[in-house]
Amino acid sequence: MPEALIVVGAGGFGRETLDVIEAINAVSPSPIWTVTGVVDDAPSDADLARLAARGYAHLGAIDDNRERFAAARHVVAIGSPATRARVVARLDDGRTADALVHPRAVVGSQARLSHGVVVCSGAQISTNVTLGAHVHVNPGAIIGHDATFGSFVSVNPGAVISGAVEVGEGSLVGAAAVVLQGLRVGRGATVGAAACVTRDVEPGVVVKGVPAR
Ligand SMILES: CC(C)(COP(=O)(O)OP(=O)(O)OC[C@H]1O[C@@H](n2cnc3c(N)ncnc32)[C@H](O)[C@@H]1OP(=O)(O)O)[C@@H](O)C(=O)NCCC(=O)NCCS
Repeated sequence: MPEALIVVGAGGFGRETLDVIEAINAVSPSPIWTVTGVVDDAPSDADLARLAARGYAHLGAIDDNRERFAAARHVVAIGSPATRARVVARLDDGRTADALVHPRAVVGSQARLSHGVVVCSGAQISTNVTLGAHVHVNPGAIIGHDATFGSFVSVNPGAVISGAVEVGEGSLVGAAAVVLQGLRVGRGATVGAAACVTRDVEPGVVVKGVPAR
């Protein structure tokens, strides 16, 4: 029997997560998930129209759906790490879905993917990688061997996290950025799109450019 799943977030990453769920179901002998619908406190009109065009119901706000959350699993599919962490704190973490991995992503040996993780198509995760809870790996991102991520990290499309990098909780690595091997990206830091990180990044700071400053 497929399990009921609520997607939290009607924005871009929420709808990409629906793609991941559809792809998982498509390659399974029988569907793993039945999407109950999408919960979002303040969806835009454009995102509501995009959901409707795909046949997904907008169920309303989080607080209007407490009974549904108690009866289903959920995934918080909001791109911003800080917003994602705030929303997770309002929900029962015990009902979070296990990692959702697109069948056309590659996940290496001894990888540990915590609950709430979403891995999109084309992502490549090497051996002995640890992803904390609610980490998002966007399409085409590459994560090198032995890298470790705290909770709520977002790796945007096409970014490259080299081997043995440590990425702190709540950090965001922008699209097509590169973090060189063995470095630490501090908690809550932001690496700008297309940056090349050549030194450790202090917690909470924004770095950009090549080399990233
Ligand atoms: C680096 C970043 C966090 C800065 O955001 P911000 O503080 O709002 O910066 P602003 O847009 O106000 O730009 C400030 C300056 O930085 C420059 N800048 C912005 N992003 C940059 C980047 N990635 N690399 C180099 N310079 C950048 C701007 O051109 C601007 O320069 P100026 O002052 O000379 O005009 C953001 O631009 C970024 O790259 N985020 C990641 C986005 C991403 O991955 N998108 C894909 C989503 S799927």
